[in-house]
Amino acid sequence: MPADSNIQIESVLQEERIFHPSTEAQKQARIKGIDEYRKMFKLADADPDAFWAKAAKEELHWFEPFTKVLDWSNPPFAKWFTDGKTNLSFNCLDRHLLNGNSNKEAIIWEGEPGDIRKFTYKELHSEVCKTSNALKSLGIRKGDLVALYMPMVPEAAIAMLACARIGAPHSVVFGGFSSEALRDRLNDGEAKLVITADGGFRKDKTISLKPSVDAALDNNSCPSVKSVLVVKRTKEEVSIKPGRDYWWHEIVPSQSEECPALPMDSEDRLFVLYTSGSTGKPKGVVHTTAGYNLWSHLTFKWIFDIRDEDVYWCTADVGWITGHSYIVYGPLSNGATTLMYEGVPRPSNPGAFWEVIEKHNVSIFYTAPTAIRAFMKTGRTLPDSYNLESLRLIGTVGEPINPEAWMWYRDVIGRNNCPVVDTWWQTETGGVMISPLPGATPTKPGSATLPLPGIQADIVNAEGDPVAADEGGYLVIRKPWPGMMRTVHGDPKRFRESYWEFIKPDDGSLIYFAGDGARRDKDGYFWVMGRVDDVINVSGHRLGTMEIESALVSHSSVSEAAVVGRVDQIKGEAIVAFVTLENSSNSSDALSNELKEHVGKEIGVIARPAEIKFTDALPKTRSGKIMRRLLRSLASGKEVTGDTSTLEDVSVLEKLRS
Ligand code: WTA
Repeated sequence: MPADSNIQIESVLQEERIFHPSTEAQKQARIKGIDEYRKMFKLADADPDAFWAKAAKEELHWFEPFTKVLDWSNPPFAKWFTDGKTNLSFNCLDRHLLNGNSNKEAIIWEGEPGDIRKFTYKELHSEVCKTSNALKSLGIRKGDLVALYMPMVPEAAIAMLACARIGAPHSVVFGGFSSEALRDRLNDGEAKLVITADGGFRKDKTISLKPSVDAALDNNSCPSVKSVLVVKRTKEEVSIKPGRDYWWHEIVPSQSEECPALPMDSEDRLFVLYTSGSTGKPKGVVHTTAGYNLWSHLTFKWIFDIRDEDVYWCTADVGWITGHSYIVYGPLSNGATTLMYEGVPRPSNPGAFWEVIEKHNVSIFYTAPTAIRAFMKTGRTLPDSYNLESLRLIGTVGEPINPEAWMWYRDVIGRNNCPVVDTWWQTETGGVMISPLPGATPTKPGSATLPLPGIQADIVNAEGDPVAADEGGYLVIRKPWPGMMRTVHGDPKRFRESYWEFIKPDDGSLIYFAGDGARRDKDGYFWVMGRVDDVINVSGHRLGTMEIESALVSHSSVSEAAVVGRVDQIKGEAIVAFVTLENSSNSSDALSNELKEHVGKEIGVIARPAEIKFTDALPKTRSGKIMRRLLRSLASGKEVTGDTSTLEDVSVLEKLRS
């Protein structure tokens, strides 16, 4: 049962509007109409093995066919398509060359300063092969972990594909993380090589990356790392350590363009990606070759209903799962044209996104609700001044979208004639799990609608029993699916306990739960309400409260810290830290700023608290557990409701209130 059974799942949303797919969207789409979706769903439910086997055979290239579909003999450790051999890099590149699509644009990239680079499938193939050969020349072999700490440059995608090509799993660390966070991830995964850049451009400034890598590796603190490959991007002076550091431009271009993709076993490790959970340090989510390839491929094809002429743009960063599945692998596996943009809207160019859409004739646009809410605040005049006629489909990801933002997006950006796909999923699920299909699913603003074929989603209570329509509960998945994470790197016990044993139904069935509360309405539509564990979602970035608390208490002035999220109109949630000091007379604005900086340095700027509240004591139960529920209410300025009788000292609450 969930640790904090006091969790209240509010379901205040009552949204009645429904938008049906236009006849035109239905006619053109692969999955035409809700009946066809239901048919697929039933088929997948009745015989999952047959459904997944057919999809895997049809959608992927196999060097050697698989004979077994799902091996669930040791749950929750799934094996999919074992004994088959395939390669993700081959599926993303070589097969399109064999199909006569060599000259199709694979990546259109625009840098923040406005520089543009384009790669056809043939060119991308050649760059990837050269990079694979360069990695080999640096001693990288099948199974060696390669870390990426990169800005949003094409080399990031090239490096990922190059790793996949030779069977070296990658571990991409978001470029906004600090050197400390990078060091932890390098050590946890025992990375052999780090691919980075001198720096990147962010909001008219440069951010440095290589110096953070140097700091992470200082004093031999990451003994597994033997070399560093550095892309020149900002041209800022960086130090190059002979024998360890190599410039990309000095070793990659001279390599051979021939590097056959290594046939990989379906269950060979493809990548590790760290994400925050409710306890302890970030978890290395492990994904493997064939299942992940199939799920990112299939979901991309279904949800974006991709066509040859589309220019598709996802605004995420490759450092997150959305970048993995829906900037790089899903689009390229489908032979689509994917746009990568280094920049973000900024005071000097608030219309940056709309300018990119207009300039490159983007037809599918996929972004986060936070961005939409920020645009909404500044009004429609700006987007209205651009030509967004090329758009035919728009999507959102990463956090719940409120109906107002959904309506604004549909109306102002989608001109009321683009289907809106609100896609619910997680790092752990590999690809989207719940989403409308543009030609099939009637949409309701604020609802991710229905699970995709093959996905058995449900809402249950803390005991694992299904709840009635419109009642809040825990969002769970009942059956394994190909894109599911396989384990937590180095900690299978944690994988089992945190995802599969958190909710334990009486009948002993295993169900997957990864932290979200939701409700299902009478039409079977899912309304995801957000995390019910100690994870905060700030602008679609997932952060564990425990990580931020440990960062705070590592400061010499801090005695105890409790971190909670409060509602934020733009970012979804903002971080509020309640802090007790070693010496309470030290509380000051200066110290508050220092603590914010400190968290930024320990984790990264995305984890900086919006607010620090100094207090003499934290509200605790008699057994010493901090009562976060109370702090959450206090941080959001809400009345503290529910049981407070377990509080050790009620006066603490009174003081906090005042
Ligand atoms: C949240 C990002 C509501 C959710 C793909 C989930 C969403 C967490 C949605 C995963 C959505 C993602 N509606 N909430 N459409 N999409 N979330 O691992 O809380 O970075 O558990 O994966 O984001 O975040 P992650």
